Amino acid sequence: MTSGAPARSDHESTTMRERALSAMERAYAPYSQFHVGAALLAADGSITEGCNVENAAYPVGLCAERAALAAAVARGVRDFRAITIATNTDEPAPPCGMCRQALVEFSPELQVISITRSGREARWSLAELLPAAFAPRSLARRVE
Ligand code: THU
Repeated sequence: MTSGAPARSDHESTTMRERALSAMERAYAPYSQFHVGAALLAADGSITEGCNVENAAYPVGLCAERAALAAAVARGVRDFRAITIATNTDEPAPPCGMCRQALVEFSPELQVISITRSGREARWSLAELLPAAFAPRSLARRVE
């Protein structure tokens, strides 16, 4: 965890928890039975939800975090402070590598909170989950 001011007020944290848990209830995960909900908090205070959406053609499935990210970007929001992830597990689950990469594109300083229905919680900074990330600035370093 990085130090500094918390990215969320108590009210925002509670709202993110509730919205991640309710999004988890809407997950479409008939193949894995692994239900994930995400609530993405933007710098403007708005929260966008996502859930995982699986498919009979397995690789077509989408993670909750990237579903939330795409929905937020489609609303014109690109600057994020924190994401809360809810899973139907006994321990909090960290986000997958593909979602870490998707999130770092917009918000390398993101705080990541993972929760369970029973109230367990884990927190990380995105920087600690994805050190030495490939980011937009990496592309800028190419030479002709
Ligand atoms: N999943 C997510 O939604 N987010 C993650 O970060 C990890 C995995 C979903 C994908 C798939 O529908 C199910 O969880 C099992 O991998």
